[in-house]
Amino acid sequence: MAIDARELRNVMGHFATGVTVITTKDTSGKPFGLTANAFSSLSLDPPLVLICVDKKVDCYACFEESKVFVVNFLSEEQEHLSRRFATKGIEKFEGISHQTGECGVPLLDGAMGYIECKLINSYDGGDHTIYIGEIQGAAASGDKPLLFFKGKYYRLPQ
Ligand SMILES: Cc1cc2nc3c(=O)[nH]c(=O)nc-3n(C[C@H](O)[C@H](O)[C@H](O)COP(=O)(O)O)c2cc1C
Repeated sequence: MAIDARELRNVMGHFATGVTVITTKDTSGKPFGLTANAFSSLSLDPPLVLICVDKKVDCYACFEESKVFVVNFLSEEQEHLSRRFATKGIEKFEGISHQTGECGVPLLDGAMGYIECKLINSYDGGDHTIYIGEIQGAAASGDKPLLFFKGKYYRLPQ
């Protein structure tokens, strides 16, 4: 059954997700990042996650160059970060408070959780690349995630 891209996007939008900002760096150590919800836990032993990255993102080369990335889980107060890291052609980290993790990649202040990864495998996924990260460190706290559903942001009821 053939399905056109607009309809597919519409169907996929019915799958509710959290929102992450994936951060990485280039060879000089300059930070890069993008908003992403194509993220999944993959394996506990060994500890693995996967992300799917569009081949057209500005930081595409960074993943293979640095072989490190961090998945930052956004909290309900960070919708502005989701919008910012999904905007092309801006200095995404200007004025954004963050720490630098063990692997030299930004951990965004206020995120609900972080997963620091070493890139161990990549697979072609059509117009995206599937990256498998081996978890080097992880932490999480808080209970107020930012949610994404049918193209809009939501929060859990209080
Ligand atoms: C909620 C949301 C989820 C997204 N998920 C992904 C994703 O999983 N993978 C991806 O490559 N782009 C995803 N995007 C799009 C990128 O964030 C966007 O294209 C971004 O501008 C790419 O980074 P660049 O500006 O450095 O090219 C998502 C955008 C939004 C708003």
